[in-house]
Amino acid sequence: MCGIVGYTGINNALPFLLDGLEKLEYRGYDSAGVYIHTDDDRDVLVKEKGRVKDLEKKVEEFDMRGKSGIAHTRWATHGQPSIENAHPHVSADGRYYLVHNGVIENYKQLKADYLDGVEFKSQTDTEVAVQLVGKFASQGLDTLTAFRKMINLLDDNSSYAFLLMDTKSPDLLYAAKSKSPLLIGISETGNVVSSDALAVLDLTKDFIELHDSEIAVISKNDVQLYNSKGNSYTRNSFHLDIDPTAADKGTYPFFMLKEIDEQAIVARTLIKNYFINGFPHIDEKIIHAIKDSDHIYIIAAGTSYNAGLIGRRFFEKWAGIPTETYVSSEFAYDQPIISKKPFFIFISQSGETADSIQVLDFIKAAGYPTLTIANVLNSTLTREADFSLPLLAGPEIAVASTKAYTSQIIAQIILAAAIAGGHEDLQKELSKLAVDIQSVIDGKEKIKQLADKYLVNADRAFYIGRGADADVTLEAALKLKEISYTLAEGFAAGELKHGTISLIEQGTPVIGLISQSKTAGLTRSNLEETMARGAKVITIATKNLATSEDDIVLPELAGENEMFGPILEAIPIQLLAYYTSFGRELDVDHPRNLAKSVTVQ
Ligand code: F6R
Repeated sequence: MCGIVGYTGINNALPFLLDGLEKLEYRGYDSAGVYIHTDDDRDVLVKEKGRVKDLEKKVEEFDMRGKSGIAHTRWATHGQPSIENAHPHVSADGRYYLVHNGVIENYKQLKADYLDGVEFKSQTDTEVAVQLVGKFASQGLDTLTAFRKMINLLDDNSSYAFLLMDTKSPDLLYAAKSKSPLLIGISETGNVVSSDALAVLDLTKDFIELHDSEIAVISKNDVQLYNSKGNSYTRNSFHLDIDPTAADKGTYPFFMLKEIDEQAIVARTLIKNYFINGFPHIDEKIIHAIKDSDHIYIIAAGTSYNAGLIGRRFFEKWAGIPTETYVSSEFAYDQPIISKKPFFIFISQSGETADSIQVLDFIKAAGYPTLTIANVLNSTLTREADFSLPLLAGPEIAVASTKAYTSQIIAQIILAAAIAGGHEDLQKELSKLAVDIQSVIDGKEKIKQLADKYLVNADRAFYIGRGADADVTLEAALKLKEISYTLAEGFAAGELKHGTISLIEQGTPVIGLISQSKTAGLTRSNLEETMARGAKVITIATKNLATSEDDIVLPELAGENEMFGPILEAIPIQLLAYYTSFGRELDVDHPRNLAKSVTVQ
């Protein structure tokens, strides 16, 4: 979702800001803009609808050499994608330029209360914020006080990351955040602000954390923080150990394929980090807190929710703790009866999903213990939970989550084993699983052929399976929908005859997932029922349950190990979605309307 980057330093700001915007593209956006205060004291604002490269083309028409500026990619919330609605927005008197991520829930009220007679150029909530700063400054407040006064007027449901520039002191950046990410990067040649460290890693890996409700005033060689009372202080920086090339797609046509390919390595990284002397090793405090609970509640959204459905099985079966998985946007407003000693696990790739943060906030306020399992270090969910476990999957750039999903499942397996104790063979089993993941990835050509033959020209598709396989059908359908725009559904195979079978026509693709011995026969019967009605059935089965007719045969997972079925199934379902999107010549990494980090509710 929206991305912010700002620079104040000794070098030309424009190339840095445009490069930052390109690196933020993966978050999803529909327009972009940049403001520079030039060396010859002009204020130049350029905005464009569409891609960052369209903005870059437009920028060529202007002379924009300057040592400070702010830039933004916008994902429309209030007002359609257009040049007028793109950020930065400007105060009516032309003094202030502002970019914003998040949503100002009470913007209409603020407009009515404070900005009567002010002429607005956009339909956005953001413009209200910059007009308020302009208005308060025109009444005699200094910029910092005007900025703080505006922030204090935002209601509790609002979320924001703001970056403001004052044309009267153009070497300063004013930053503030609440519930939306914003980091300050520091370097010898200038200081930067960004909603994502990845955008500025070429300049610096040293960052200062900005807390909710603080304001930072940033010059080229100083960062001053102010609390809501106006007291000033500084904070030490931290070093982020990320390889900037990890966010480079190399020779791959799309990040998604690269990230699918990385899954065996990610599994090995988790094994390396979470085992000591062959035993699962997780911080004792986490294990103790979970053992002390009578119920685990897993809270997550989208793909992370689907990973939580699989994790639930391990917490129940291995650790013996009743566990339920909830969609965060639902749990926020519609809670079940909470047990006496609950433990909450938040699962996320980005750690910035507003729906999940909303739940974490009130669960913390209720005093219940919380753990976040997330990929992005230092994200809001990891910082604000009592405990956190990093997924160590490396940057995930494609909008469709792949390696984060498998790493979320594996991390939950290791955690469940650590709670349960024993499982002395787990390290060996997971290492073998990593080899098996690689072998499925190596068979991708066959999966491409199936996608080309049966899915690229299909308008709908169904995934069915039972037990843990049914959980995977949800993720399989989500992947196919989001990047190929195929109307796809995944559900428990037994449910087919209770309604959906009416949608099966000649040639409708129905994909069966078979890794669970108890229900393999039943799923096959359900597939037969669809075939009898003309469906084109594709089967994905583990070797021990496979027949010679199956289309994709996964490595053997017999006995208890069939619980790992979802991890192996993840690879072909991701590849089927990828090759369907690729075959339709779509922009696989940037599906329409979607954002990587969903920072609005
Ligand atoms: C789908 C996908 C989304 C995310 C969801 C939650 O491929 O990526 O469904 O899983 O938006 O995001 P995180 O995991 O960042 O909390």
